[in-house]
Amino acid sequence: MKIGLIALLLALPISGAVLADSTGSPMPPAGSVSKAEGLKAWERIEAVVTHPRCANCHVGPDNIPMWTISGEKKTRPHGMNIHAGDSRIGVETVPCSSCHASSDTPNVAPNMPPHVGLPWQLAPVAFEWFAKTGAEICTQLRDPKRNGGRDAAGLVEHLHHDAQIKGFIPWAWVPGPGRSTPPGSFETHVQDMTVWGAAGQPCPE
Ligand code: HEC
Ligand code: HEC
Repeated sequence: MKIGLIALLLALPISGAVLADSTGSPMPPAGSVSKAEGLKAWERIEAVVTHPRCANCHVGPDNIPMWTISGEKKTRPHGMNIHAGDSRIGVETVPCSSCHASSDTPNVAPNMPPHVGLPWQLAPVAFEWFAKTGAEICTQLRDPKRNGGRDAAGLVEHLHHDAQIKGFIPWAWVPGPGRSTPPGSFETHVQDMTVWGAAGQPCPE
């Protein structure tokens, strides 16, 4: 039974086109996936959420974006003294949008400010991941007070919504030349978040 469900889930034909059209995803019933399976999915999720393509924007209350220049591996505070302010979009100083365009065209040139289909901005402070351990991010991600009020299905729905608006999450796997990508693909990340959710969102002890 358990194996059957997982096989079904993994066999789902998830493609970018299907995702863009879907409004939600089938969430297997709670308890249908084992805790061990959920913890394995979490290991893969952890490698994604701690990756610079995600964590560079999920920074804390100092409001300073992190950056990893095209072709480099070292991550450090954003150059040019960029400060996002409490607005998290830089209205207090230099708005992110003065360099980062809003466009759903692919990012093709190295060393350019990356863009997506919505205005570039930091994630809210409550969603701070940068420099946190995987276990810390895990308990935070399942806490509705620190994830925007989302249950497990709501987190998966957020991924689909982000794909529809050509947002930050799918961008991480097509970030443009010279930038590394998190392991797996956007589609496997959606699958992992679904499996983790159905297993009851287990976190490493
Ligand atoms: C350019 C900045 C940026 C990048 C890069 C980015 N995010 Fe976010 N993220 C945001 C913003 C802004 C929000 C708030 C949007 C909302 O809650 O509707 C957010 C919210 C979220 C949320 C919901 C709240 C929470 O923390 O539980 C998740 C999950 C998330 N991002 C996952 C990711 C993942 C996974 C990646 C990388 C694959 C990523 N983000 C990359 C800016 C970013
Ligand atoms: C003066 C222009 C400029 C402004 C303003 C600016 N950026 Fe950037 N940003 C860049 C450039 C250029 C890059 C790419 C650097 C490279 O790869 O060489 C970049 C890269 C980034 C990255 C790294 C992405 C990655 O893949 O590692 C993040 C995160 C980021 N900016 C966030 C912001 C935020 C948030 C704001 C507003 C508070 C902002 N930026 C304002 C020019 C700017």
